[in-house]
Amino acid sequence: MTISDDWRSGDGMASIHQDGLSAGDFARLAVIIEQYAGIRMQPSKRTMVEGRLRRRVRLLGLADLNAYCRHVLDEGGLNEELVDLIDAVTTNKTDFFREIEHFRYLVGTAIPALSRLPHHPGRDRPMKVWSAACSTGAEPYTVAMLLLDQARGGTPIRHEIIGTDICTEALAAAKAGVYPFDMARMVPAPFASRYLMRSRDDDTPTIRLVPPVRQAVRFGRLNVMDPSYPVPTDMDVIFFRNILIYFDKTTQYKVLTKLCGHLRPGGYLFVGHSETINNMDLPLKQAGSAIFVRS
Ligand SMILES: C[S@@+](CC[C@H](N)C(=O)[O-])C[C@H]1O[C@@H](n2cnc3c(N)ncnc32)[C@H](O)[C@@H]1O
Repeated sequence: MTISDDWRSGDGMASIHQDGLSAGDFARLAVIIEQYAGIRMQPSKRTMVEGRLRRRVRLLGLADLNAYCRHVLDEGGLNEELVDLIDAVTTNKTDFFREIEHFRYLVGTAIPALSRLPHHPGRDRPMKVWSAACSTGAEPYTVAMLLLDQARGGTPIRHEIIGTDICTEALAAAKAGVYPFDMARMVPAPFASRYLMRSRDDDTPTIRLVPPVRQAVRFGRLNVMDPSYPVPTDMDVIFFRNILIYFDKTTQYKVLTKLCGHLRPGGYLFVGHSETINNMDLPLKQAGSAIFVRS
């Protein structure tokens, strides 16, 4: 589209951002993304969003981002595109044993405390762990390695681990359980030798989790903005880390209130170390750095 054609179409801004999003289109997309997924899209994210949506433009065979916006915003394509749009704008950074203090606390403090609760989770019934923004799975698989490892010390822990996320691409990677080789660097050596297999392909070296770890986690798509969650209400541990930073305070409060409804009294909630949830009226007591117990 030439500048003059574009100008005639009535959207002068699009002519300035020939290969990008006009401020108006970005604002309309931002409203859709925030209402659906809770993710705030500050104007400073425009270049990042443009970069990510260009892949959708190519896959849909469209001419440019302006054509993408007309398709999604004006011509009824939103319903069909919504899941891919959200996939494109989520940030899926994760790692095994990320914020390792949390995992030390889980094994050293939370599991012993949980074992003193009625019905002894882990022995009389499975210990239920939910990673509620699990991205490509490193977080729930870290929990799986730790719980499986307990059997080596003679105290096997029965467990049910679920990983959920809004992003379908991340979930597909999680289910595959295959990762770039450099993600092994975060896995402590004894765990790496017991639970990771290295591929022999020198061009694209990868690591693969051993079957017992892969089989320990069930994955599913769940948008935490949904009115209710198809997840048990007696989880022993919920990980909800490095997602609150994308939400505003009101959304954080609403989502955390719903999550608390899925945590049994005495159960643990872990949030990201850079995320503060103090000063919110929630049924939680602080137990450690970014660690809370359901009261
Ligand atoms: C930065 S990753 C954090 C992954 C992991 N918890 C960790 O700390 O390593 C944030 C994840 O939140 C997910 N997410 C964002 N909005 C969501 C929503 N409304 N419902 C469920 N997941 C969401 C993203 O898809 C992304 O995978």
